[in-house]
Amino acid sequence: MPVPLLDLRAQHATIRDEVVAAMMGVVDSQLFILGAAVEQLERSVAELSHTKYAVGCANGTDALLLAMRALDCGRGDEVITTPFTFFATAGTIHNVGATPVFVDIDPDTFNIRPDAAAAARTSRTKSCIPVDLFGQMAPVEAVMSALPGIPIIEDAAQTIGARRSIDGEWRMAGEVPTIGTFSFFPSKNLGGYGDGGMMVTQDEALAARLKRLRMHGGAKQYFHDEVGFNSRLDALQAAILQAKLPHLQGWSAKRRSNAAYYDRAFAELPEIRTPFVDPANESIYNQYTIRTERRDELQSFLKERGIGTAIYYPLPLHLQPCFAYLGYKKGSCPESERAAAEVLSLPIYPELTPAQLDEVIEGVRAYYGH
Ligand SMILES: Cc1ncc(COP(=O)(O)O)c(C=O)c1O
Repeated sequence: MPVPLLDLRAQHATIRDEVVAAMMGVVDSQLFILGAAVEQLERSVAELSHTKYAVGCANGTDALLLAMRALDCGRGDEVITTPFTFFATAGTIHNVGATPVFVDIDPDTFNIRPDAAAAARTSRTKSCIPVDLFGQMAPVEAVMSALPGIPIIEDAAQTIGARRSIDGEWRMAGEVPTIGTFSFFPSKNLGGYGDGGMMVTQDEALAARLKRLRMHGGAKQYFHDEVGFNSRLDALQAAILQAKLPHLQGWSAKRRSNAAYYDRAFAELPEIRTPFVDPANESIYNQYTIRTERRDELQSFLKERGIGTAIYYPLPLHLQPCFAYLGYKKGSCPESERAAAEVLSLPIYPELTPAQLDEVIEGVRAYYGH
């Protein structure tokens, strides 16, 4: 039985009528750019994230770019982040003209180590981007304490709806930092039928600036206070995402129960490390990522059995050729490098059937001769 890494058609089949109705509403209105559908989604995402403001944009990459521009990150500035993440996190730092400063990850959670962020601070540090990898929040509050006075951008592309207990209270992804950024790339827990992104903040002036920046920098049409971008959220995407939003909690809960099922089955296999979730976190499991020393062979073995897997991420960003100019060498971020050699993400999507989950477990067990 084939088990793809992700089966978006299976999910679409369960919500087709709602999504098509939402799309047709936009088509009939003929209002395709920003407008009521986008404003509605902005209100919904702000509510979900416990933030005062949410500003839609074209994708999660632009959300980071706009966030940095709104914080005046540019030439001569340094922005601290981790190298074990999707390229956009550091690509956008470069693209605003700033310098990425890579610090190593916690090997258990794959997220930033606040002490490493503090140690990397210089007089040029303008911001820090903790990434919430694979569905669990980074310790944003600890990063903020470690870098007093530095505005923090939480790259929450993979964690919409995830939460973390901070001082005994649940805080949502995007709620605590200066700006939180989301991606609605189709493979995310809340994915569009195309690209989309959003920024959330508690700061009214920042929200206003983010809105200007996504529309060429002008608060009033044809009058420009600064040079911005064309990075608007499409109304069709907003309507689709709004239709999907009521399902998000249930989908993420199903991912958690799939993860618990794998965790129990894999507990008997000494060859693999199952994902570690910080006890303060509730993960939304955008990925279920195991670690094993024979990762590439396991991946090929599973592929032959029709089981889809992925390696997120095979080469940490400090070793990417495009960042050679920064001067990092092999060994600069050892935990990120080790993770890149050992990680393998298994199918975790909510529509997996019990038989498919067992098929994955059987495949992994068979590879190790159990
Ligand atoms: C951690 C992280 N940051 C940024 C992005 C960029 O989002 P997008 O693909 O919507 O531009 C992604 C997703 O693709 C991501 O996983």
